[in-house]
Amino acid sequence: MTKKGIAGGLTNYGDQDFSLYLRRSFARSMGLSDRLMAAPVVGIAAAQSGFNNCHRAMPELVEAVSRGVLAAGGLPRVFPTISLGEVFLSPTSMMFRNLMAMDTEEMIRAQPMDAVVLIGGCDKTVPAQLMGALSANIPAVQLVTGPMSTGSHKGERLGACTDCRRFWGQYRAGEIESDEIEVIEGRLAVTSGTCAVMGTASTMACIAETLGIALPGSAAIPSVHSARLLAAEASGRAAMALVEKPILPRQVITEKSVANALRVLMAVGGSTNAVIHLAAIAGRAGIKLSYDWLNEISDTTPVLVDLKPVGEGYMEDFFAAGGVGAVLRELKPLLHLDVTDIEGRSLGERLEENLDWVDRKVIREFANPISQTGGLIALKGNLAPLGAIFKRAAATQKLFEHKGRAVVFETLEDLANRIDDPALDVTADDILVLKNAGPKAAGMPEAGYLPIPRKLARAGVKDMVRISDARMSGTAFGTVVLHIAPEAAVGGPLAAVRNGDPIRLSVADKRIDLLVSEDEIKRRLAEHVPPPVPSRGYAALYQRCVTQAPDGCDFDFLAGGAE
Ligand code: FES
Repeated sequence: MTKKGIAGGLTNYGDQDFSLYLRRSFARSMGLSDRLMAAPVVGIAAAQSGFNNCHRAMPELVEAVSRGVLAAGGLPRVFPTISLGEVFLSPTSMMFRNLMAMDTEEMIRAQPMDAVVLIGGCDKTVPAQLMGALSANIPAVQLVTGPMSTGSHKGERLGACTDCRRFWGQYRAGEIESDEIEVIEGRLAVTSGTCAVMGTASTMACIAETLGIALPGSAAIPSVHSARLLAAEASGRAAMALVEKPILPRQVITEKSVANALRVLMAVGGSTNAVIHLAAIAGRAGIKLSYDWLNEISDTTPVLVDLKPVGEGYMEDFFAAGGVGAVLRELKPLLHLDVTDIEGRSLGERLEENLDWVDRKVIREFANPISQTGGLIALKGNLAPLGAIFKRAAATQKLFEHKGRAVVFETLEDLANRIDDPALDVTADDILVLKNAGPKAAGMPEAGYLPIPRKLARAGVKDMVRISDARMSGTAFGTVVLHIAPEAAVGGPLAAVRNGDPIRLSVADKRIDLLVSEDEIKRRLAEHVPPPVPSRGYAALYQRCVTQAPDGCDFDFLAGGAE
């Protein structure tokens, strides 16, 4: 790859000299000097939006990245892409991750830039940017917006969004009143940045750093910390270094670095959503993230990080404790040390530098883990022939081996209408089943954390086995089987479950089974009527082309990267 600056990728008028002359004259209208017009161009993909609180600090970060590019002699050019604010999108942000990935890929490719810095943070934005960057495959640096700092309520620290769910559960159970929940609402998300716990955004930030496409030490810096601006400036400089000595995303994101990322995902007790996103990211590099591989890594990787939703601390504690660098040093014997990062360093070289201090309350030593095995596993069984995901670190151990009666909700609407019906026939030993919330049926919303029916919540029930083809927020917890594939809408066995059927979950055997004869399951599936499909626009494209969860819910025509 040669640096071309603003002369790269000329608009096609059938006369290249004219195209360059026209581009340069229009560039002059932006007041660019001759020196800058001759400089390498670093694009800055800035996913800013008034509908994305997690990206509130974007203008400062853009300014700092630009500073780094300018100081290294380059021309920074900011460009917008779609921004996905998790709680502002309907029906679910997941539906738009692939759209943002396409936007990012195409704008990187279509505009003249020699390298790109991608700034994202909220759950779907970093996966989308990495998918796009891998497919465009020009030198790229990922920068995250960083996690929120905590608030407080009556002497207790609060952070979005594990505490949001905890207090909402208490409110539903009648343990706190509506005036208190209103006060809490104002104290959960009090700074710029992404959710304050090891949810999906934080997990993806740790994964980006482990993959080597974000700068070392940059994942966990709080959004409001001055070090975040320094990391932004350094990201601009790193992009310029990549212009001089290109290292492409597909040289950084390889089977070995994905294996390292899976190790870190397990060790930090990361989000179930990260499995889907990492599968999609790996898929863009032509790497298949199989569930057997996931289980092999989970069974041999300890959980070392004590953060909510599975433990105690918040991301600001993780940063102060040593962050991803400290985790990588503990995992060193399990990692591929010969992978290369965007600075051209091997992981082994990075880890030779000693950290001055690690807070062992937050990041445990390898020999003293929180648990011997990883937080996430894949399940198989006749209910999930292509697999399902289970976060054992966030589940109730006494439900790990459980047989119960299915209480079935056919759709999300059915769930909303009946879950709190006092007449609902349900006990704490039953298994709540949600169908038709998978990628094709509903865009795969975070509805897999089915609420405990109000009458049971009020009787003190805190957890039940819940199963679905949906996802769950990375900040949630409970005995929840997710991502069942194939989903019900395409005729997966989940579609055959009826009220009262016995279901067995076995974490020891890594299985989820419907205890109904195979003949009866086949007979029921033969009668299955798929839900109606959208006929126009992006929803129709999505429904037609989205893959199942084990393939990352990418579009089938985008996996595998650029031609
Ligand atoms: Fe953006 Fe949680 S809502 S990271």
